[in-house]
Order: sequence, then structure tokens, then C-alpha cells
Amino acid sequence: MNELAVSAGNPVSGKKVYTGNTSYSEGREFGMSKSNWDSQVTQEWNRNAANWHSRSREMWESGSRKTVLPLFARLVAPDSGPVLDAGCGDGYASLKLARQGYRVQGVDISDDMIQLANRQAAGVNGVTFQTGDVTRLPFADGAFAGILSINVVEWTEQPLAALEEFHRLLRPGGVLLLGILGPTAGPRGYSYPRLYGKPTIQNR
Ligand SMILES: C[S@@+](CC[C@H](N)C(=O)[O-])C[C@H]1O[C@@H](n2cnc3c(N)ncnc32)[C@H](O)[C@@H]1O
Repeated sequence: MNELAVSAGNPVSGKKVYTGNTSYSEGREFGMSKSNWDSQVTQEWNRNAANWHSRSREMWESGSRKTVLPLFARLVAPDSGPVLDAGCGDGYASLKLARQGYRVQGVDISDDMIQLANRQAAGVNGVTFQTGDVTRLPFADGAFAGILSINVVEWTEQPLAALEEFHRLLRPGGVLLLGILGPTAGPRGYSYPRLYGKPTIQNR
């Protein structure tokens, strides 16, 4: 993660939104038919889970994500309430937060990722993982004091639905720390307006 920008807080809800850009290429581009988007994403990340897991420590400790959790810790205190790691992958960040005293709910659409996360969670207090889609999650309004979602919304068919879901799930004054692939991910730049539900040129 090479850039973090703080946008103005939402004047209505008081919830703060932080966005970041990452500058490396991860995952593979692949074509998806919209009608079965979710199942294709699930398959792709199930297939990629072991490889992701072999690299997650490096990414979070010294690579592109190394500044993310220190920033999250500055914005959300462990005792401020439960936090959501939306699209948690193999759970590396969730587990690290739990070891720092946070109560963490990790959610990912890939069952293989959740299996990897659960395997490492043995003996770690305060963390729960489950499969789920970040655009429709089974948690109450305002359930979370903070939401971390790193390089996930660009994988969803309706990024705006994910952002709206995060807004619903955050308590007033809660913080969203959102990372999306950055400009060096090349033509992904054309996809950015998609985050706001606008028509875009899709990169493949
Ligand atoms: C690039 S990985 C990032 C994983 C983790 N956030 C990290 O930074 O280490 C993207 C993750 O998003 C998950 N994902 C994609 N679409 C999702 C959705 N609609 N709901 C939940 N998770 C999703 C994938 O399964 C994958 O684990």
C-alpha cells in the first residue's frame, strides 16, 4: 500500500471513510459473466488461496500492506467495539488484530480462504471467521466500530452495494479503512467510477 488518502467524513452520519491505493498486481485478471460473478470469484479465490496464504505474511509484515494495520490502530481502538475484516482472505490481518486485543469478525466469499483462516485461529481469542458476501452480510446495523476491507470491493459485481453495506454496518462515528488497487495496476484506473455505480470501461 503506497498511498493513503483521507476523505472528508460523511457530514450526515459522521462516519469516516479512509481509502488507499495499492501499487502492485495481485490475482489474475479473468473474464466473468455477470450472471454467475460470485461463483466465479469464489472459484478463482479458492484456486488462489494456497498461493495467497504462502505470501500473506510478507504482504502484511513488509510488503504492500505493512502500513495498513498501524493506520487502523491509530483510527480504531481495540476497546471501541467489534471490527469487521471484510474480504479477509486467509485471515492474516484479522488474526493480527485479534492478537492486539480487537474483537474481529472475518468474512470472505472463498470457503478455502476461510478454511485457512480457521486453521490458524486455534488458540487465538476474539476472532471468528465465516463465509459471506460483502455486499450482503448477516450482521445488524451499526454492529461494527471499524471495518477493514483491503482489495476486495473491486472484486465485487456491485462495488457500490459493498460500500452501502459497510455504511449500514458501521456505527455512527465508525471508521472504514478501504484499500483498492492503485494506478500502477494499469487499466484498472478505468474501473474506478464503477465504485460509485457509474458506467465504465471494464478492464479484463
Ligand atoms: C486480493 S484478496 C485480499 C484479501 C485480504 N483482504 C488481504 O488484503 O490480505 C481479495 C479477497 O476478497 C475476497 N472476495 C472477493 N469478492 C468477495 C465478496 N463479494 N465478498 C467477500 N469476499 C470477497 C476473495 O475471496 C479474496 O479473499
